[in-house]
Amino acid sequence: MAVDPTTISPIQPVNPVQPPPQPPSNNHNDDNQPITDRDYLDKVVIQNTRKYTIAKAEFSVPCMPSMADQALKLLQDYCAVLGKPGTPEEQEKLKAFLTEKLSQGFKVSPHSRLVMMCVPAKPEVGLLGGVSIQTKVISESLSDKYTTWPKTRPDPLFGSEPDFKVMDVAASLGEPSQVRVLDVGAGPGRNSLPLARRGHPVHALELTPVFAQKLVDAAKPENLPVEVAVGNVLDPLVRMQPYYYQYVVSSEVISHFRDAQELRLFFGKMSDALVTGGKLLVSLFLTEGGYEPTDLVRELGEVSFSSIFTPAELRKSIEGLPLNILTVEAALEYERQHYQGPSWPPTPWYEGWCSGRNLFPIDKKPPTQLYWVLMERS
Ligand SMILES: C[S@@+](CC[C@H](N)C(=O)[O-])C[C@H]1O[C@@H](n2cnc3c(N)ncnc32)[C@H](O)[C@@H]1O
Repeated sequence: MAVDPTTISPIQPVNPVQPPPQPPSNNHNDDNQPITDRDYLDKVVIQNTRKYTIAKAEFSVPCMPSMADQALKLLQDYCAVLGKPGTPEEQEKLKAFLTEKLSQGFKVSPHSRLVMMCVPAKPEVGLLGGVSIQTKVISESLSDKYTTWPKTRPDPLFGSEPDFKVMDVAASLGEPSQVRVLDVGAGPGRNSLPLARRGHPVHALELTPVFAQKLVDAAKPENLPVEVAVGNVLDPLVRMQPYYYQYVVSSEVISHFRDAQELRLFFGKMSDALVTGGKLLVSLFLTEGGYEPTDLVRELGEVSFSSIFTPAELRKSIEGLPLNILTVEAALEYERQHYQGPSWPPTPWYEGWCSGRNLFPIDKKPPTQLYWVLMERS
């Protein structure tokens, strides 16, 4: 996890010192007489209590550039509660500042957060001194994020059963010992281990070291034919053995990709790694009904582990590569129909996530869902 140095926004104070209430007109001319008007004096004292009142707030938002307006609104509303919401120029400046911070953080990782701390600009005069806004961007990589999972979530993290589709395709490919498998983003081995138990020689590539270690530890006692490597499949330095695998599987991984270029890079590498006639099975979120996602939706897709692609983007990402799409099937329906585990759903989050409701929490059908896409290397 990386935290950038705290930056203090130039916008301060947004709530300048307020003028005292006006004295009553009948006291105006005689400075020697004490003012005794109770209403007026109460007003003065109420105003004065603001000097002794301290307010602090902290907002933490996902670093999505498209969220600048929402982030600004949180600060505006907060400042409005305390008094003045700031001048239009200050608001403009603040919005530009937030947009820059959100974009910076998002570029580093979709799991970055912008923390906005509102503190008294001059603590010695409490609310009267205005609000100073300090920000920090906390960037967490995907691997950092997954590293916390074993500490905060019950096992098995991704379900106790392999994907039915993964095993179904494996069963169609002939004698397991002759079908070399690459499992990309293998996690703790939900699919790698059962594939190795079938007799496939399995290479597992995994980004998150704790998951890779779990997989090694699970394979060892059974002496399973699994070789595990830690690495990012999108890293140009991470190379696959060319023209080697009969079957490449990548389940629940593309939902972390950042854009169509990464999709293209991935398919390029996978087509190099497959032998002619080899199969590539991936799961990914595709849009439906002609829906074209906005930047806002794409950004939250990344944040919610549900990166989405349009069918046209999928087609383009394999253009010119020796890959042909054989089938495209809705994953939730397929897995639900064939599930053989102890109790459906495999994890508490599986159905909501697969059906696109992590991103669109609606009862009606969202315009995206997880699909199984099976391809063949020509
Ligand atoms: C939701 S889990 C799925 C794990 C496993 N495939 C399964 O279906 O049970 C996604 C996994 O993909 C890994 N991952 C994500 N992006 C990756 C990348 N670029 N290279 C390698 N592994 C990646 C994550 O570390 C995580 O273990």
